[in-house]
Amino acid sequence: MLVGPKTADDAAIYRVSDELALILTVDFFTPVVDDPYQFGAIAAANSLSDVYAMGGRPVLALNVVGFPRASDVAPLSILAEILRGGAEKAREAGIDIVGGHTVDDKEPKYGLCVTGFVHPKEYWANVGGRAGDRLVLTKPIGTGIVTTAMKAGTAGEEAARAAVETMATLNRAAAEVARKVGVRACTDITGFGLLGHLREMLSGVGARIRLSAVPLLPGARDLAAKGSIPGGTHRNKESLDRVVDYHDAIDEIDRLLLCDAQTSGGLLFAVEPSRFEDLLSGLAEAGVSAAAIGEFIAEPEGKIEVVS
Ligand code: CO
Ligand code: CO
Repeated sequence: MLVGPKTADDAAIYRVSDELALILTVDFFTPVVDDPYQFGAIAAANSLSDVYAMGGRPVLALNVVGFPRASDVAPLSILAEILRGGAEKAREAGIDIVGGHTVDDKEPKYGLCVTGFVHPKEYWANVGGRAGDRLVLTKPIGTGIVTTAMKAGTAGEEAARAAVETMATLNRAAAEVARKVGVRACTDITGFGLLGHLREMLSGVGARIRLSAVPLLPGARDLAAKGSIPGGTHRNKESLDRVVDYHDAIDEIDRLLLCDAQTSGGLLFAVEPSRFEDLLSGLAEAGVSAAAIGEFIAEPEGKIEVVS
């Protein structure tokens, strides 16, 4: 095992030979949006992301499905749409879904078990960054807040469209650029939110984040201010309170935004300063929206400082 259950990494990595290691990961969840096709695409993009976050390439995937057997609860055409969304997203990633398993389940669930390849000396873990490394985030945050508002019917059209689009976007292009440039550490931003996943990268370093540099989904801040905050986001913030030092000027809404539980979020890279410009320009050339949101600092170790 190169990466196993002892660390909070995105996937397990198993060395097969001097040239090849396997990446194994599984993810599935209940619908985040009403449209079954979009749900399938988002769930697949989210599952594939853990392979990209380790610096690997997905090779094959299996469907993991829960769906009600009784057709009066939900017609099978809905399941077909979920699977079509997943299959088309997998094809966009250059792979096939080669099988899977479905169980009877009152509430639909969908995701993928993904196998990827990586060179055993070239994978990324979430730790390994050093003081001075710059932190680069792809994709805006706020999907937890916007999808909560979508379920309540209070999200505007623009906010909803932007959230669905970002969640369904593969982290493939971002990972390809970062592999070419070389980064020191990486994770993807999902349920623990930006600060929660950043905390998992802190080994022997601390981090400083500039709130004004963190990209937000359109409408996310307004919706959060109106109280559209998922339970997971509150829990994330509470569990991070002893780790994060927020500058006084940063209000509760912004603190919650930084801890917002994400679905299929972007990649967070730690990159050494000499490669930072190449990473940003490479991402821009590849059409990946990305922002430099802060850096690792020597002290205080294990803590996150958030400035305006
Ligand atoms: Co992950
Ligand atoms: Co995962």
